[in-house]
Amino acid sequence: MRVVALILLMAACSSAEQLEVTLEGESAQRMLRFYFGSYTSEDPFETGLLNERGGRFYVDLAVLRAYGPELAQELNAMASGGVVSPDSLRTAVQMTYYHARNLPERLSEFSNRWVIDNAITFEVHGPVTKYLRRITLSESALQSAIWNYYENGEKIRYAVGTAIKAEHLRGARVVETTTMVRRSDGFWDFATYDSTGALTSHTLPNDRALATPTQCAGCHFGNKGFEPEQSWPLEPANAPGDVRKWYTGPRDLEIAEFFSEHSRRSDTLLGLYATAYVSNLRAQRTAGSLDSSAIALLNHLGL
Ligand code: HEC
Repeated sequence: MRVVALILLMAACSSAEQLEVTLEGESAQRMLRFYFGSYTSEDPFETGLLNERGGRFYVDLAVLRAYGPELAQELNAMASGGVVSPDSLRTAVQMTYYHARNLPERLSEFSNRWVIDNAITFEVHGPVTKYLRRITLSESALQSAIWNYYENGEKIRYAVGTAIKAEHLRGARVVETTTMVRRSDGFWDFATYDSTGALTSHTLPNDRALATPTQCAGCHFGNKGFEPEQSWPLEPANAPGDVRKWYTGPRDLEIAEFFSEHSRRSDTLLGLYATAYVSNLRAQRTAGSLDSSAIALLNHLGL
């Protein structure tokens, strides 16, 4: 009898250490994996930090305290009747994420830590900002992702530690920089830097200022199509008065369909980097100006 009482008491204690976390939509589980994985660097369901019971999700506060004491404190303070609302969860993540991920305070430090070698750039007017976006990534990282396309199950996947920057330009001036870094758990970290190069919680207001990382993940993990990527290689649907600059270079319909890069977003990236790159290689091959390693890459893809 005593043993049973003790077990019940233990269960009661441990359930007091559980908070239910709620999020909207079908992608709730994936989003929770990203949010909480930011503190554990391992799958939060496997570490016992998150549990799913009857389609509901619970955080074990004792486990969370070990990985993310600040987040545990915020969630505990924001919970009402043992439940954390979606807005409270996002606020608590936004408040503690940068610190947990140890993201550099300065863009210069970011650039030193994640060096983008053999940088290539793509310019586009997308949905995130009214300014022109200059997206920079490493050509070697992109080439590897393309080389590994079949090995990765016909997916464009970047190596862990790959960094991508998207600078927002007013004329020649960089007004802010958004960045992503590939993590080992398959997600990417998001960081936003202001015009002075300081880490900042939100982007400049476009329609709205975007909170990092929660609103970034919203678009990047979702399945909504954006212009100009969605219509590529056709002209994007233009809103009246809209300026659309997009991936320059050859518009190769076969390659666009082959990768379907924007709609498949195999690595939660939304730009058309493999598409633009391989389209360009094919055009160079036609012109007879391609080197042997690039020819090998096209042959490897069967294109
Ligand atoms: C409205 C949806 C949306 C939101 C919100 C959003 N992005 Fe993106 N992001 C895009 C699209 C679309 C692209 C492809 C390039 C373009 O059209 O701007 C992109 C591209 C990027 C890239 C280049 C790599 C890639 O995925 O192609 C980075 C870096 C990036 N975003 C960072 C961020 C950060 C940081 C935030 C949050 C502050 C954010 N994004 C929020 C839609 C979004």
